Amino acid sequence: SSDEVKLLTVKSSFDEAAEHAATCQACPLYQKSTQTVWGSGPKNARLMIVGEQPGDQEDLSGQPFVGPAGQLLHEFLQRANLSTDQSYLTNAVKHFSWRFSKGRRLHQKPSSQQVHACRPWLEWELRSVRPEIVLCLGTTAARSILGKPVSPVSDRGLYDDIGRPFRVIVTYHPSYLLRLPLGPEREARSTEFLEDIRLARIFIG
Ligand code: URA
Repeated sequence: SSDEVKLLTVKSSFDEAAEHAATCQACPLYQKSTQTVWGSGPKNARLMIVGEQPGDQEDLSGQPFVGPAGQLLHEFLQRANLSTDQSYLTNAVKHFSWRFSKGRRLHQKPSSQQVHACRPWLEWELRSVRPEIVLCLGTTAARSILGKPVSPVSDRGLYDDIGRPFRVIVTYHPSYLLRLPLGPEREARSTEFLEDIRLARIFIG
């Protein structure tokens, strides 16, 4: 059917973009990382979830959201009744940025130049997946998608009417939740995180 043909066309150009991204040298991060971590999930997903950058385990496996933050994300997606095969998962920056500390590779926040250098790949994913909702996890994703500084702590929630064919929901990064000490604040933020994911769930029906 013509739908199948369309999907195939999307798929092949999609794989081509991923191949190009695999050798990207638009910023210095490629030098220290194992590989480009491209997005994963259905190429026609109605929900796109955007994180900051791959972590240690993502860098090694080549898959986004497989480490501790990813596990927490998946747990919340499940709690919100959102199956992972409804969402396309990706990152604002596709190479792992890190520095050595105490014998291990410690996540280092990507610079605004690095986010900027990676922006065309994210834009490419947006244009080919064409999600209805983009869930931004944390400041880096929110800034890359909305093009302005947005703090999830003070500005979380829904952004529609941004002049793009999708709505945006800004929420916390799961790593932020993991860093909060167990207690009432972590509980409160986690509840809000779940609410934001449920909101995304409502929009995609
Ligand atoms: N954190 C992110 O933002 N993205 C990943 O893929 C993993 C951890």
